[in-house]
Amino acid sequence: MEAKVLFITVGFILFFGVGITFEMRTIISNLMQDELGKQGASIASDLSARSADLLLTSNFFALHQLVSNTLQNNSNVEYAFVLDDHGQVVAHTFESGFPLGLLDVHSDETRRSKVLVSIDGDVIHDFSSRISTGNIGTARVGLHQRNIQTSTRKVIITIAQTTLLMSVVGIFAAIIFTNLLHRPVNLLVNAARSMTRGRYNQKVIVQTKDQIGTLAQAFNELSTVLHNKEQENRRLWGELKKKEVVLRSLLKTAITAQEKERKRISRELHDETGQVLSSLMLRLQYLKDRSTDNDMQVETENICALVARTTEEIKRISQQLRPSTLDDMGLFCAINNLSEQYRAEGSFDIDVVVCGRNNGKRLLAELEIALYRIVQESLTNISKHANARNVSIIISLRPEQLNLVIEDDGKGFDVEQHFSSDAYLEHLGLHGIQERAEIMGGAFKIESNIGSGTTIFIKVPMTIAHEGGSSDQNTDS
Ligand SMILES: Nc1ncnc2c1ncn2[C@@H]1O[C@H](COP(=O)(O)OP(=O)(O)OP(=O)(O)O)[C@@H](O)[C@H]1O
Ligand SMILES: [Mg+2]
Repeated sequence: MEAKVLFITVGFILFFGVGITFEMRTIISNLMQDELGKQGASIASDLSARSADLLLTSNFFALHQLVSNTLQNNSNVEYAFVLDDHGQVVAHTFESGFPLGLLDVHSDETRRSKVLVSIDGDVIHDFSSRISTGNIGTARVGLHQRNIQTSTRKVIITIAQTTLLMSVVGIFAAIIFTNLLHRPVNLLVNAARSMTRGRYNQKVIVQTKDQIGTLAQAFNELSTVLHNKEQENRRLWGELKKKEVVLRSLLKTAITAQEKERKRISRELHDETGQVLSSLMLRLQYLKDRSTDNDMQVETENICALVARTTEEIKRISQQLRPSTLDDMGLFCAINNLSEQYRAEGSFDIDVVVCGRNNGKRLLAELEIALYRIVQESLTNISKHANARNVSIIISLRPEQLNLVIEDDGKGFDVEQHFSSDAYLEHLGLHGIQERAEIMGGAFKIESNIGSGTTIFIKVPMTIAHEGGSSDQNTDS
């Protein structure tokens, strides 16, 4: 902006300076030419008047004096000479001989006339004046224009100096002007930059009533609106965060309650229903042994087989609800058992790798059950959707953090599309995994490429790990 104003100012000054210089040069030159013309005509006329008597009396000496005086008394006169009625030069001021070519330059026969001649490269204005009395001769005077050129040059130099001075003054004026103009603009720019850094409460004080003043006022109004909106957003964000905390804690309570309930039902199925089915089986065996009726024996045998199948089913459901290995032997055994079940089904091969085992220490029950459920849901997904051949589960234990990676080489899916669509309303498994990881203070990440498989990464802090394998803490999660 500053450079532009400077450029425009100096440009204008130079443009006007050069224009005025040329114009003045022309005007002055024309004026001086006119003046020279008048002066030449007057000197020629004067010379002719004074030469008349001297020529009539053939006083050539006085004529010579007269032309010499004419040359000396007029600084612009280059030469002067007098011709008699035969056109012979009778007196002249040329020291090195009269240039004969000069005689022919005047062709008209008027009493007074002027022509331009060139002598040694100089332009000479030659004035001729008839010596009227008796038409006895002609007086001729040549005026050079060196003085005109010198004066014109002086004027041009003065104008050029003035233009230069005005340019310097203009530059200073432009700098001061642009600084004055820039100050409020800079204030606005700085305030706008602060706003982009999130500090919306910016006020710019500009007291001028011009467009910049109006702009500053509009800016201040905008900043007030943005500041208020930001305050409102902060308040809403705070409320949202609070609600999220409440929701997460409710979710945690719900998950804990669900796990408790699953465990209770699992125990009841295992202990109560299992017991009942065992004693039913014993009694049926007893009845079968005591019976002599063949049909009765076959029927009892069938019922025994039914009871055995029901017992197996109850065991399976009980295991699924809450595997007793998880409480009794810990997370790694439970995951191994789960993998064994899938291996036995034969749909894919599973590798389980645990690195940095925790010196036999058990993790906190909440963490164990959360990680178990994550593995369970992931394996369910692989068997339902992936069509994989190989699966690996890698658990790495570090002092501060536990990393769990579940990787398959199945068909993969578009993760972004799944998470950005409304699919989660019907498909809750992956969201459940994410929630469980986040409730534990950890993080969840999923990567999937169509055609090359899916990998789930879980990171949870180990701050909740504890010493020993106490099953007390592991029973009431
Ligand atoms: N390992 C995987 N390989 C291929 N696709 C997968 C895999 N895991 C998840 N998906 C895709 O992601 C979708 C969402 O999985 P998510 O577990 O959230 O829901 P779901 O398994 O369909 O239903 P549910 O709520 O019973 O778990 C699945 O429908 C499936 O298309
Ligand atoms: Mg699922």
